[in-house]
Amino acid sequence: MTSPNINVSINVESSVSSDVTALVVLVHKGEKSKVLLRGDVPDAYRDVVESLARNGLVTGKSNEVCIQLIESGKRPLRLMVVGLGNPAKFSGECLREAGGVIARQARKHRVSSLSVILPDLPPNFPGTFGAVSASEPVAVAIDAMVGAILLAAFDYTEYKGTAHKKKGEDQKAQATAVTIVAPANVLKSARVIATQTEAIVSGQNFARLIASRPGNDINPPTLAKVARDMAAEVGLTCRILDEKQLAGLKMGGILAVGAGSIGTPPRLIVLEHRPAGRDKATSRKKSAKPILLVGKAITFDTGGISIKPAEKMGRMIYDKCGGMTVLGVMYALAKLKLPVHVVGILSAAENHISSRAYRPGDILRMYNGVTVEVTNTDAEGRLVLGDALAWGIEQYDPRAVVDLATLTGGVVVALGKSMAGVMSNDDALVDALTKSGQQHGETIWRLPLGDDQRDQIKSDHADIVNSAGREGHPLQGGAFLSHFVKWEGDDRIPWAHLDIAGVADTEREMPYYSKGATGWGVRTLIEWIRRGIA
Ligand code: BES
Ligand code: MN
Ligand code: ZN
Repeated sequence: MTSPNINVSINVESSVSSDVTALVVLVHKGEKSKVLLRGDVPDAYRDVVESLARNGLVTGKSNEVCIQLIESGKRPLRLMVVGLGNPAKFSGECLREAGGVIARQARKHRVSSLSVILPDLPPNFPGTFGAVSASEPVAVAIDAMVGAILLAAFDYTEYKGTAHKKKGEDQKAQATAVTIVAPANVLKSARVIATQTEAIVSGQNFARLIASRPGNDINPPTLAKVARDMAAEVGLTCRILDEKQLAGLKMGGILAVGAGSIGTPPRLIVLEHRPAGRDKATSRKKSAKPILLVGKAITFDTGGISIKPAEKMGRMIYDKCGGMTVLGVMYALAKLKLPVHVVGILSAAENHISSRAYRPGDILRMYNGVTVEVTNTDAEGRLVLGDALAWGIEQYDPRAVVDLATLTGGVVVALGKSMAGVMSNDDALVDALTKSGQQHGETIWRLPLGDDQRDQIKSDHADIVNSAGREGHPLQGGAFLSHFVKWEGDDRIPWAHLDIAGVADTEREMPYYSKGATGWGVRTLIEWIRRGIA
């Protein structure tokens, strides 16, 4: 496993160190050429900021940055004033956007060390779950700032500039030591949070790294190797089911999707995080059922025989992003050593065209016996997920199931590129996931799923079709998957399906994401798991 190259280290201190080369002051937009400067900012810098504001160089609007060289003291210091926007709308997301600005400026100006003074936080600072503890606003803020700086430091460069990379050192990015300056009375918990955030974001950046690798590098077998190596490194169990084992298990969905891809057959990748001591622990702990996460990992989606248009087809390297999020979550769980039993399955196949490819009109028998009439080979994600869900639920008897998939273009039409759609059989699960997402700037919007949608995908010649035309695409996806989970009845299991087609990658620079894979969902799912609200 190669970890992404993040040239940033994080520290938390209670004062600005004397040898720092840049100091970041965060300001809110105020009334009339005044900015609101809250936090423990030394007077000398406060005066400079106020003068910059008087002269209109700083207004405090979000994403604004003004860099001023200050020559007092031992050596010159860059004062970086970064805007947080309207104080009435202050939230963790404002800090994340500022974190993105800071990381980009630091890289651009090759800053070797910088301190960020954490602004004061209102007690009702949004993003918290409610009154869990008095220090929670600080925790949310530290997590937001540290997380965004580390996310913004990621850039996918594995295939870039090999020529000058060989030339050596001088082209290397400058490493930046970042210090967050927090009030002394919360220093201890702030440090714990910062360390945890680093672990979580390293999982997210790992997900982005593997997601960014192209189809001629990552295919189901090479992805299985990446997962196996990562599992060995961080201490997860990893089991890989190859195409022969999948055939033995009669997984008709994943086998059909992967059939056209000769030489790179499908794989079911099963990662397990079992906290140490669980087996020997009390019977109560032993009986705690695991959480099951399942991700769509189509390493490339041509559409199959129902081929996609050429334009932007290259983006379908990101069709593995649901699986990559699961990979990143498992990585982070191991790093955090969270005392929760979690199983993560990546259902990996390549949707290709060849004489072996599955066809429209084919009827498949899925792992749980449900038969599927293939009406469109481009609706392949639900086929690989259906088998993985049914098998995973049978094997692990989970207490809750979440799947993630870049399942439909329709969810992008419906919700745009800023939120994921969720379909579920459990209100409490939707609520917990939504709140977890809110804390991390990941928006989840519920879409309907019930008998109307399940009826819509009935087939004349099989149990269900994999696509029933254009109406309510994302809902059809959810309805399809509901046939492979314990949807209702006495043995119902809470399940949520996240359609992340709009958020898994970005075609434009975002405040704290470069173009490409975002690793959407890693922080949200870790939050949900660590709060024990599963
Ligand atoms: N991987 C695509 C969905 C997708 C589209 C993700 C655009 C990201 C951006 C999926 O496999 C697909 O092709 N879905 C079809 C389903 C249809 C054929 C029922 C779609 O959404 O058009
Ligand atoms: Mn497709
Ligand atoms: Zn797809």
